[in-house]
Amino acid sequence: MNSECLPKHVAIIMDGNGRWAQKHSLQIAKGHQAGVETLRDIIRESSDLGINTLSLYAFSTENWRRSPMEVAALMSLLLRYFESEIDELDEKNVRIRILGDKQGLPDLQRAAVISAEERTRNNTGLNLCIALNYGGRQEIVRAARSLAEQVRDGRLKADEIDDDVFSRELYTAGLPDVDLLIRTSGEQRLSGFLLWQCAYAEFEFPATLWPDFTLDHYHEALELYQKRDRRFGGRKT
Ligand code: IPE
Ligand code: IPE
Ligand code: MG
Repeated sequence: MNSECLPKHVAIIMDGNGRWAQKHSLQIAKGHQAGVETLRDIIRESSDLGINTLSLYAFSTENWRRSPMEVAALMSLLLRYFESEIDELDEKNVRIRILGDKQGLPDLQRAAVISAEERTRNNTGLNLCIALNYGGRQEIVRAARSLAEQVRDGRLKADEIDDDVFSRELYTAGLPDVDLLIRTSGEQRLSGFLLWQCAYAEFEFPATLWPDFTLDHYHEALELYQKRDRRFGGRKT
């Protein structure tokens, strides 16, 4: 792997925990627990590699449709994750940012993620974005609403709205667009993840289930990315 031309922003849809649990005849919660182990490794490696931004899809606005038991298991894992990891992440100079509607989270989880954001806000290492109660359309609609309010209040003119102004209203304000999107488990869809930010992203869909996704798989994905020919609509002569 060439450490010179790594993607600035890697986004990962961590999929396949349920199938992994099923495959091993375990309860779904065990699959999510195993997924957290992978997540730890991938975050550490991204930070060590010097990647600028890593975005992880942890819970979508649609995931509330799952059974109350599974939602509760995910929420409790989330809380435990922040409690156990925050010291190390802070030490590693990681800046945590939550993408999504924090108001819709249960009180304890909301408090934990807000405190993680506050504690790491001046860190200058890896930007770690965790998408929680996140939906890409919801994010875009929220941005449009905010811009409409600014125009209504005379703080902005409609014809001043361009890509940059719009981007600043998104949860990812100030961060680079996604260069590489990885979805594990073989599914080939976005499920609403970072719709705006993925406009020119490269996509990879490894068949590996998230709990089985190793650093070797990650390196392989980064190497594949480095072989891609990104044209952004232009033509190389
Ligand atoms: C992804 O794994 C984790 C979350 C959605 C939180 P899944 O639970 O979607 O795994 P599969 O798709 O059922 O295998
Ligand atoms: C997307 O995975 C959300 C997360 C990984 C958190 P899902 O498993 O919920 O998506 P669908 O339902 O297969 O599209
Ligand atoms: Mg899934």
